[in-house]
Amino acid sequence: LDQIIPQHVAIIMDGNGRWALRQGLPRTYGHKKGVDVIRNVVEFSLQKGIKVLSLWAFGRDNWSRPIAEVDYLMQLFLHVLQNERDILHKQGVKLCFTGNRLELSALIQQEIIIAEELTAKNCKMILNIVFNYSGHWDIMQAVKRISYSVVHDNLDLDSIDEDMVAKYLSTRDLPDPDLFIRTSGEQRISNFYLWQIAYTELYFSNLCWPEFDNTEFEKALEWFALRERRYGKISEQLLEEDYV
Ligand code: IPE
Ligand code: IPE
Ligand code: MG
Repeated sequence: LDQIIPQHVAIIMDGNGRWALRQGLPRTYGHKKGVDVIRNVVEFSLQKGIKVLSLWAFGRDNWSRPIAEVDYLMQLFLHVLQNERDILHKQGVKLCFTGNRLELSALIQQEIIIAEELTAKNCKMILNIVFNYSGHWDIMQAVKRISYSVVHDNLDLDSIDEDMVAKYLSTRDLPDPDLFIRTSGEQRISNFYLWQIAYTELYFSNLCWPEFDNTEFEKALEWFALRERRYGKISEQLLEEDYV
């Protein structure tokens, strides 16, 4: 029997700093090491036939970190964008970005557009880089834009439903995540996707992101394949649906 593969996997890549400090190295070394792991996770996801891989690389709340670390993360993101887009393009990966772009430097915004345009027609897998994102920001911007449409475009209040709200979120073009993974042992969402994880299966790994490997990813996938996703129904109903 084929293993059930999640269509959309979303990962909070956490624990870079602690992993580095544990070996007496600066936190930034952990971030750099984390990029190697991203390359590997992308390849493994391609092999597995995962259709959407979302990786959270920077949260809006991370601006509160020491300026030197924030600068390092911005530089690293820029370098990865510039250096990896060609290989990702060759691999058939379509790059997309969720988060508030307008708060990023002009150069980063420009590189994001280049990467998106270069890979726009690829369809092997979507690599969704979640950058300068927070769940509260996303819901807030959706509320603002819907309100604008009510006031200025005669949007009928009664036509606002859950599907419409989802269409105003920054993830409008993506399916909701099936499997969520957070590394480093922390069992919290930390203002990542909120609306979108209503029925996502949550997997917490004790490994720090620089240690995350195929064995651990495979473990998460095997665990996912054993979940029964009921969406409010009862087991017997799901079995019946299998036969129709
Ligand atoms: C995750 O690792 C990467 C980013 C937030 C950019 P952390 O930097 O949060 O590492 P820890 O959690 O402090 O160890
Ligand atoms: C979330 O991790 C952000 C990313 C991994 C990009 P944090 O490390 O910033 O979250 P908290 O502060 O531990 O909750
Ligand atoms: Mg952290």
